[in-house]
Amino acid sequence: MPDAPLNAAEAHQLRDIDALYRPTHDEIARQRFVSALRKHVLVDKAAEMRASYERAAKPAFISARRRAPRDHLEIRTAMLDDMTFKVFSALRVNAQELSWLSVMDGVERALPEMIGVAREAARLNPSGGSLRLDPAFKPPAYVADIDVHHIPGSFTAEVTKDDVAIGAVAHFGTKVFAGGLPHRKDNPGDVGQSVAHYLKYKYPDFKPRRILDCGTTGGKNLAPYRDVFPDAECYGIDVAPSALRYGYAQWEYRGKPLHLSQQNAEATDFPDGFFDLIVSCFFFHEVPVASTKKILRENYRLLAKGGRLAHMELPPNCEVDPYYAFFLDWDNYYNYEPDYADYRSQVPKTLCAEAGFDPKTCSHIFIPNWRSFGDENFRRFVAGELPPPEHGNGASWFIFEAVK
Ligand SMILES: C[S@@+](CC[C@H](N)C(=O)[O-])C[C@H]1O[C@@H](n2cnc3c(N)ncnc32)[C@H](O)[C@@H]1O
Repeated sequence: MPDAPLNAAEAHQLRDIDALYRPTHDEIARQRFVSALRKHVLVDKAAEMRASYERAAKPAFISARRRAPRDHLEIRTAMLDDMTFKVFSALRVNAQELSWLSVMDGVERALPEMIGVAREAARLNPSGGSLRLDPAFKPPAYVADIDVHHIPGSFTAEVTKDDVAIGAVAHFGTKVFAGGLPHRKDNPGDVGQSVAHYLKYKYPDFKPRRILDCGTTGGKNLAPYRDVFPDAECYGIDVAPSALRYGYAQWEYRGKPLHLSQQNAEATDFPDGFFDLIVSCFFFHEVPVASTKKILRENYRLLAKGGRLAHMELPPNCEVDPYYAFFLDWDNYYNYEPDYADYRSQVPKTLCAEAGFDPKTCSHIFIPNWRSFGDENFRRFVAGELPPPEHGNGASWFIFEAVK
C-alpha cells in the first residue's frame, strides 16, 4: 500500500509543539481534579450562592433598607458577608491559580525542546504563515504589571531567550480551566468557530479577504476563521511574544497559515482599510476603557468600507439582570482583572458609534455555541426560529457588531 502523502509540516520535519508536553500520571490526575473543582464552583456552588441570595441575603437587605437591591452593586453589598459567596470565592480563586500551576511542571520539563521546535517553525515556515516580533516593544502596563487572571508573570512574561513558556502555560492551562464545563470540553477555538459560522450564515454575501483578531494570544480563536472563510488571510496581534511564538509553531504544524505580530491593538502598523473583518475574543474586559476607545477607533481606521466588526465579550450590565451582572463582576475583584467592571458598565454599541461607526449599524446579540448547539439548530437560530441558550459556562456568547 502506498504511503499517505506527507503534509507540509511532515515534509519539512517540523514536530508538533503540543506533543512535547507530556504530563505525568499524577499531573494528569491533579489537572482532572482542578477541572472538576472549577465545574463544581461555577455550576454547583454558583447555584447554591444564587439560592442563598434569594433565601437570606436579599430578605436581609430588604428588612434593613425597606427596599430590594436596585442594581448589581447593591447585590454585591448584600452578598459580601454571605457564607456561600465566601466559599464560592475562596474555591474559585484556588481553582483559577491551580489551572496554571497544574501544567507548569510539565511545561518546564519540555521547555528547551519547545523553544527548539518554535525556532524550527520560524525557520522552516511550512504553512506560509508569518511571525513578526519586536524586541523593542513595550507592552502596556495593564497587561505587564499584574498577573492577569492569576497567570504567573502575566501574558507578557519572558524568562529566557525565545521563550514560549507562558504561551504553553496559557494553552494547556486553559484546557484545565475549561475542561469540566460541558459546552467547552475539548474544543479550543469554540468562540471563533461560533462567531465565524454566525457571520457566514447571517451575511452570506460577506466574503472577507483579510481578517484581524485583536488580543489573539496564540491564535486559537483566529484559526477557525481559516476553516469557515478558507480564502481569507488571517492576522492576529498580541502584546505577548511567548504566546505568539507558541501559537505560530502550533498553526504552522497544523497547516493553517496565520500572520501573527506583536503589536498593541491601540495603534498598529497596518495600512488604512486593510481588513474586511475585525474580531476579538475575551479581550476588551482586560483593557482600560480609555484604551478600548482607542482600539475601536483604530479598528475603524483599519476596516475597508463595508467591513465588519464582530467582537465577542462578556455581556455588559445593560444586557443582563442585576444578579448576573453581580456574578460576572466577580473577576474584577478577585481575578486580577481590574478593568472588568468598568468595561462591563459600558454599552459596546455606543462605544462603536463613538469610535466613528454609523450607529444604525451598531448592535449586540447573544449567539449559541456552534458546536454544542449543533449546525442545524444554529442555522435555525440565525433564521430567527430558535433562541440562543441562556448565557453562562460557554452555552452562548455575547457579541457586538458594527459596519464601516
Ligand atoms: C484573555 S486573553 C485573549 C484570549 C484569546 N483571544 C483567545 O481566544 O485565546 C487577552 C489577550 O489580550 C492581549 N492584550 C492585552 N492588551 C492588548 C493590547 N493592547 N493589544 C494587543 N493585545 C493585547 C493579552 O496579551 C492576552 O493575550
